[in-house]
Amino acid sequence: MTTQSAPEARTLTDLNGTIVLVGAGKMGGAMLEAWLGLGLSPTSVVVIEPQPMQELTTLAARGLTLNPATPAARKASAIVLAVKPQVAPAVVPTLAPLLAPDTVVLSIMAGRTLGFLAGALPRNTALVRAMPNTPAAIGRGITVAVPNAMVSQRQRALVHALLAATGLVEWVEDEALMDAVTAVSGSGPAYVFLLAEALSAAGAAAGLPAELASKLARATVSGSGELLNRSPLDPATLRQNVTSPGGTTAAALDVLMAGDGMTELMNRAVAAATRRSRELAG
Ligand SMILES: NC(=O)c1ccc[n+]([C@@H]2O[C@H](COP(=O)([O-])OP(=O)(O)OC[C@H]3O[C@@H](n4cnc5c(N)ncnc54)[C@H](OP(=O)(O)O)[C@@H]3O)[C@@H](O)[C@H]2O)c1
Repeated sequence: MTTQSAPEARTLTDLNGTIVLVGAGKMGGAMLEAWLGLGLSPTSVVVIEPQPMQELTTLAARGLTLNPATPAARKASAIVLAVKPQVAPAVVPTLAPLLAPDTVVLSIMAGRTLGFLAGALPRNTALVRAMPNTPAAIGRGITVAVPNAMVSQRQRALVHALLAATGLVEWVEDEALMDAVTAVSGSGPAYVFLLAEALSAAGAAAGLPAELASKLARATVSGSGELLNRSPLDPATLRQNVTSPGGTTAAALDVLMAGDGMTELMNRAVAAATRRSRELAG
């Protein structure tokens, strides 16, 4: 079986300049770990993080610059913004002194638009807004990125390399798509976890010991996900391949694929998340 969409194999060993990471929490921390794993030298990284985890202190001993007293002493090739969206109005304007003429600012903050970033930073700053998802933590994420008009090919390549460290990367030119992207891939891992929860609960309701039901559901969701990842076939074909006419799977799918079934439910769920993303972006 071939891998249909493996993350691009990249190395960051030849990356020039300084990467400034602002916010090394769950997502920022996962990105940093991936960059270092691809050979980025800790000496190329500045991290601004009010409550650094032990790992960061260890990395500081290996040359990473942690919370420098004068951050502006090193101009950034890229500034990666991974703080919560709520603190953005306070944090983003303070980054202006780090900008050099060729700096690109990459924001992964949910709902913070290119317009917001442009308003909080000096005129003509090169900006990329991106939406990753949690499988980034294991190098299996997917990120959608949208640039503003100031981003050069070189800056786009740098941002692509930084994002590709945690999985697949797709670029779009229309920022309006980011609300639906957020609803599908940003929030999507939660829907899959819910599927595992619901399958487990249904197994218990059908008479299985709870622990066994949970184990079966977890292995089924993760194993099927991996099969989908490795297979060249589309999900509908994979589904049809495990469904014999008149069999047990067909009986369940008759329920799941009824008019008010999973497709309709997913449509409503994604529409609700898209609407909410639009509201949060203001
Ligand atoms: N997690 C996801 O699945 C996901 C997916 C897509 C997008 N995102 C986006 O990624 C961003 C980070 O999310 P997260 O889940 O990684 O959140 P998180 O774990 O809370 O990380 C944010 C980090 O930023 C730090 N921080 C707070 N104020 C700061 C400041 N003034 N300067 C520098 N760092 C500061 C926080 O420190 P304290 O803990 O001390 O406040 C925390 O370590 C969010 O904007 C979110 O929308 C996340």
